[in-house]
Formats: sequence, structure tokens, C-alpha cells
Amino acid sequence: MTTRPLDGRHRTIVRLGHPALRQRSEPVPVERFGTRFLRDLERDLVRTMFEDSGVGLAAPQIAVNVRVLAYFVPGEGDHDEVPPRVLVNPTLTLVGEATEMGWEGCLSVPGLRGLVARHPAVKVAAYDADGRPLVFEASGFHARVIQHEVDHLDGIIFLDRMNGMSSLMFEEEWDHYAADRDLPVEV
Ligand code: NI
Repeated sequence: MTTRPLDGRHRTIVRLGHPALRQRSEPVPVERFGTRFLRDLERDLVRTMFEDSGVGLAAPQIAVNVRVLAYFVPGEGDHDEVPPRVLVNPTLTLVGEATEMGWEGCLSVPGLRGLVARHPAVKVAAYDADGRPLVFEASGFHARVIQHEVDHLDGIIFLDRMNGMSSLMFEEEWDHYAADRDLPVEV
């Protein structure tokens, strides 16, 4: 997925049924900013996300119940590239009332895709691993990835967000019947 060397170590992604995916994760306390714990977690999340071909990965997906997530946006289709980024203790403000439908998948729910309504834009406030504040607005695919990942911090899986199960598909069938409609999000 990436050609640059990655440090950190690969961690096992837990799947639906693991209790870590269904807990509300704890915020990282201020005294842990800049520590080895958070630096290692940051590197491990990014490495595991790339090696497992995802565009996002939240700490609960490697069975660590803290409010930390990693993601990136590949520069494909109609969205601009966002390099790998780690958010600590993120909070979201949803912009507007309208939502838009898009396909999602999840590394913790391998092999399935489904349509999920998300807000097309969000305001994000978070910290980096050293405790520096990050404030930005995300839209489109970028906003969708962040909403999916922040849900993981609250024990919510994309299946919970679907309006019924009728759009749920296996990846292979999705490739065949639906892939031209939108880009998938595997997070
Ligand atoms: Ni996910």
C-alpha cells in the first residue's frame, strides 16, 4: 500500500464479537501526551492500517480502548489526499442537517459492505500524540472516514448506522454489482 518504510509494529485487528469493539473508550489523560505509550500506539496504528490495506483504524480495533484513531485519504477519485494522521481525543461537530449515503466496510467486519448515511461535513477538534491541538473541517470521503472511526471509539460499528440490512453485500458481489457507484471505505 505504501512504499515508505514504516516503523512501529503490526498489531492484530480484532473482529466483530471481540468485546473491545463494543466499549466506550477512555480519553487519553493529559499526562500521557508525548509518552512512549502514545508514540508507539500512533506508529502501530498507522503501520497496521497500511499493512491491512485500510484507510482508517481506531485503537479499539487493536483491542486498546483509548480515544485514538489513525486514517488517511488516498488521492483518488474526486477527493484530495490527506496524509496519514492520528487524532487523539477527537470531538466532532456535525455540519448541517442533511446526510448523504455512501458505501462502507470495516477491517473488523471483513468481507462486507453496506450503505451508510453520514454528514457530508464535520468540524474536528483533537490533539496529536504530543498534545498539540488540531482543529479542522473535513468534507466528503474525509468526513465519512472520520465519522466511522470516531464511532469505533464509542463502540459503534457501521452496521449499527445502516438503515436496514438490504444494502449489505459481500465484497465480491459489491465489486461486481455496485463498485461503479462509489468508492469503498474500509476502516
Ligand atoms: Ni471500522
